[in-house]
Amino acid sequence: MDVLTINYFCRIMEIVVSGIRPTGNLHLGNYFGAMQNFLKMQETYKSFFFIADYHSLTTHPHPADLHSNVKQVLVEYLACGLDPEKSTIYLQSDLPETTEVYLLLNMNAYVGELQRSVSFKEKVRTQPNNVNAGLLTYPVLMAADILIHKAQYVPVGKDQQQHLEFTRDFAQRFNNMFGVKFFTEPQAFNFGKKLIKVPGLDGVGKMSKSESGSNAIFLIDSDKEIEKKIKAAKTDTGPTAPNQQLSPEIENLLLLLKLVSPDDQCYNYFKNKWDSGEGKWYGELKKQIVEDMIKFISPLRRRIDELKNDDAYIGKVVKMGAEKAQESGAKTLREMREIIGFRKFY
Ligand code: TRP
Repeated sequence: MDVLTINYFCRIMEIVVSGIRPTGNLHLGNYFGAMQNFLKMQETYKSFFFIADYHSLTTHPHPADLHSNVKQVLVEYLACGLDPEKSTIYLQSDLPETTEVYLLLNMNAYVGELQRSVSFKEKVRTQPNNVNAGLLTYPVLMAADILIHKAQYVPVGKDQQQHLEFTRDFAQRFNNMFGVKFFTEPQAFNFGKKLIKVPGLDGVGKMSKSESGSNAIFLIDSDKEIEKKIKAAKTDTGPTAPNQQLSPEIENLLLLLKLVSPDDQCYNYFKNKWDSGEGKWYGELKKQIVEDMIKFISPLRRRIDELKNDDAYIGKVVKMGAEKAQESGAKTLREMREIIGFRKFY
C-alpha cells in the first residue's frame, strides 16, 4: 500500500461529531457553509451528525414545535445529501447516555468558568428572565456530545470555538483525574482553507436570517419568493466609468450568481458589462440570478417536500441512527463508569 492509501484508511477511522440546532430553515449560507463541509466529511470520516434537541430545551419550546422543528431540520439535511448509510444521523435525545456523560462531566466543570463563557454572558444580557442552569451548563452537554463518541474533529464556526475549548479542558481533566488516556482532545475542523462566504441580499455582510427573512434565500422558498427577494435585492446607481472597483452590492449579486450558475459564463458576461462602464443592465442581471437560483433551489425544495411526507422513511433513518449512535455511545459511557469506579455488585 502506498502512503496515500494508508493515509486514506487511517483517516477513515477518525471521528467527526457535529450537532445541529433544530431552529429555523436552512438558507443558502448554511448550504454552502456547513452543509457542503458535512457532505465531504461523510465521505472521509466516521461521522456523527445529530440534532441537538436536548440543547434546544433551554428556550422552552412548545412540544409540538419541538417535534416539527426537529423533523424539518432532519428532512432538510437529508434532502441536501446527508446519507444515513455513510454517516450516523441521530437525535440527541435518542442517545440518553449523553445525559449521563453530561452528569459525570458536570462534577469537574466549575461554575466560575462556565459563568465566564461568552455565550452564557450574552444570554444573561439578552434574556435575563430565563437564565436557567441548562444555559450555564450548555458547554458541558456539548462536551458530552463530542466526547461520547471520542471525536477527533468538530466542524464548528468561530462562535463555537470557546465551547470546544471547554470540551478539551473537560477531556483533559477527566484523563488527569483518573490517570488515563481515555479521551482525545477534539480539534475544530474545516475542509477548505477558506470558508465560502455567501452574501446576503441587503448589500452588506453575509447571508443570515433576518426579521423579515428577505436577506436570505431559504431552501424551501417558492419560485415566486425567490424572484421577489432577488428583485428587491440592493443594487447601486451603476458604474460611472470603465474598470471601477465593484460596489459591495453588485459584488454580492455577482457572487450569488457565481454560486448558483452552472459555470462562469454568466458571471464573466456581467463582470465585463461592469468593466465596460455602461449602465442599465441590472434588470438583466437579476433575471439571470432568478433563473439560475430557481434551477438550483427547486430540486432541493421538491426533495424536502417528498421527504416530509415520507414518515416511514424518516422513521427508518432515525431508528438506524439511534442504533448506530448507541453502539458507539453506550461503550464510552460503560468505560467511563468503570474508570470512575462504578463497579457491579451483582
Ligand atoms: N452548540 C452548537 C450550535 O449552537 C450545537 C451543538 C451542540 C454542537 N452540541 C454540539 C456542535 C456538539 C458540535 C458538536 O451550533
